[in-house]
Amino acid sequence: MKQRRLWGILLLFGCVTLSMATLAWSEGWEWGEHEEHERSSFLRQTAGVPPVINKAYKNECSACHFAYPAGFLPERSWVKIMGTLDDHFGENAELDAQTVTEIETYLRSHAADRAPNRFSRSIVRSIGSHNTPLRITDTSYFRRKHGEISPRMVKGNSKVRSFSNCLSCHTGAAQGSFDEDGVKIPGYGRWDD
Ligand code: HEC
Ligand code: HEC
Repeated sequence: MKQRRLWGILLLFGCVTLSMATLAWSEGWEWGEHEEHERSSFLRQTAGVPPVINKAYKNECSACHFAYPAGFLPERSWVKIMGTLDDHFGENAELDAQTVTEIETYLRSHAADRAPNRFSRSIVRSIGSHNTPLRITDTSYFRRKHGEISPRMVKGNSKVRSFSNCLSCHTGAAQGSFDEDGVKIPGYGRWDD
């Protein structure tokens, strides 16, 4: 009888250890995304996406929406966006040539393919090399991260309306923080899963 109990406890320990190891492994998989060398470069990464520092960008590109951090799209996307401002998601967002050059230079040098933080790296990896998305919300990284949020919390929510309104849920977005802990969906409160 005593020995049976001992075996039971050992078995329980084994299960707990195994599931903890699996959890650790799957988490590593999440941000490591199949790449072996990822772990060594992890230490060099910064924690979040750097907030916007360019004045012209902040002034001109936040009239209709939040000035999205440059580190959320690759360089080629920003080039395309800045080259098609006359037809910008159904709006005319044209600017004079000098301002376009200044903003484009800023966005390119801080683009996701140049930013050493975990979000930017994951976004770049989630985009096929032949794709040039014009939307952060179109990347598979974004879709994966927001896949559990129901339409009634976004489209059907008058305080959100569109996933493009990052600020309405990410309370720290202006400071460059997109951590899950800082998420608060209007009308639904804090996000914990
Ligand atoms: C006249 C209004 C207006 C201005 C000015 C404007 N935008 Fe936009 N932008 C929009 C609209 C409308 C959308 C689509 C939003 C939606 O679908 O909810 C959009 C979407 C975007 C998106 C995609 C967001 C997503 O869904 O991931 C990016 C990136 C973007 N704008 C960049 C810029 C940049 C860079 C500038 C400055 C050069 C700029 N915008 C200025 C109206 C504007
Ligand atoms: C309707 C609310 C909502 C909107 C709008 C929204 N998000 Fe999120 N976002 C969330 C929630 C909730 C999570 C956490 C999801 C999870 O992991 O369970 C999240 C997660 C994220 C993450 C991953 C955080 C991490 O630590 O892994 C990033 C990055 C992010 N959002 C960026 C954005 C950007 C950029 C925009 C705008 C283009 C945006 N989000 C718009 C609700 C929102």
